[in-house]
Amino acid sequence: MNIIVDTARLVEELDRLAGYSDAPAPAVTRVVFSETDRRAREYVKGLCAAAGLAVREDAAGNTFARWAGREPSLPAVATGSHIDAIPHAGRYDGTVGVLGGLEAIRALQRAGREPRRSIELAIFSAEEPTRFGIGCFGSRLLAGALDASAGERLRDKEGRTLDQWRTAAGFAGDLASMRLPVGHYAAFVELHIEQGPLLERAGIPLGVVTAIAAPATWRITVEGEGGHAGALLMRDRRDAFCAAAEIALAVERAALGTGVADTVGTVGVCDVFPGAVNSVPSRVRLEVDVRDIDGARRDGVLARIRQACDETAARRGVTVKAEVINADAPAECDPLVVEALARAAAVHQLPFEKMVSRAYHDSLFLARIAPTAMLFIPCRGGVSHRPDEFAAPEAIASGVLVLAEALAELAG
Ligand code: GLV
Ligand code: MN
Ligand code: MN
Repeated sequence: MNIIVDTARLVEELDRLAGYSDAPAPAVTRVVFSETDRRAREYVKGLCAAAGLAVREDAAGNTFARWAGREPSLPAVATGSHIDAIPHAGRYDGTVGVLGGLEAIRALQRAGREPRRSIELAIFSAEEPTRFGIGCFGSRLLAGALDASAGERLRDKEGRTLDQWRTAAGFAGDLASMRLPVGHYAAFVELHIEQGPLLERAGIPLGVVTAIAAPATWRITVEGEGGHAGALLMRDRRDAFCAAAEIALAVERAALGTGVADTVGTVGVCDVFPGAVNSVPSRVRLEVDVRDIDGARRDGVLARIRQACDETAARRGVTVKAEVINADAPAECDPLVVEALARAAAVHQLPFEKMVSRAYHDSLFLARIAPTAMLFIPCRGGVSHRPDEFAAPEAIASGVLVLAEALAELAG
């Protein structure tokens, strides 16, 4: 039987999931291990159970829902993404890969397919760095890209540990137990919105991802000296915020300085202490995100930022500490999985373009343990990480159809 995607049901489920939010609609805020995250997980697990999938959770809340194949002892084929959302995000980032992955499995079930390998839906904990400052801690731990002891040291801004958070959210056990060996999955495919404008501009419905850019995150702490905003004379100041502002501009300069559009640098967090209008800032914490599809060029940008930190510290008499949270290598997608996606698109006469992912994804880490590729669908204006993020139902349906076709081929 043909694979038929139930688009109306999927769109309704995406809308329902968007309702689990700590920000008023249309914005979605769903930070890992919040009460809202817990309720959203329950909703998704309920849908998985209704589809007859066996659900398992690991020590950090990665969730796996398995449709048993004819030969269940073989390594499974997996698909999935994340359901956490950064503050004031939209409703499609990650969720299209989770609920779309589930719908791909249901569509194969309805078509009467009986795959040889099991097909597993994975919902990774905290692809977004909001709570612990590092993206993808779930898939990092699972793939061994973050070891258990480094995982134990993760803390939120208030100093509350990952252990405290995950225990409160009901996830117990040793983080080391999460590790999945190379070969655990026969293949992994992640469906995701593009989060950029290229597919829409080209009028092409699908992107088959061949590589994922190299992301790096730094936490920079500037310590100066605080004081009374009226009484402390300008000439006597060691203002931590003014120093941090210079560093932020140095990040922009360093990224622009490569002359290549693929290099991007962002200061997305700036916490000022004590944060009072009549107090000279004594301490500032910046979080800096630098990416490139070329890892060495990205590292060159980081070196220039470090130099700027040192110069600013010396000139302004402040101390600047730059802490590397992550500096990941880019990932190459697996040619066989890429070709499976290309064939699946051809079966349904859907044009596609091969492209790189400038955003990072759990696939960056899954690629370390399994043959991995990604499938992109266009999103309106390329907008993402904003409440007005939008993917058209037809675009989602095409992505799910091709995902289902590819999963069926990979599972045999
Ligand atoms: C993932 O959300 C990213 O920031 O690329
Ligand atoms: Mn995101
Ligand atoms: Mn995402």
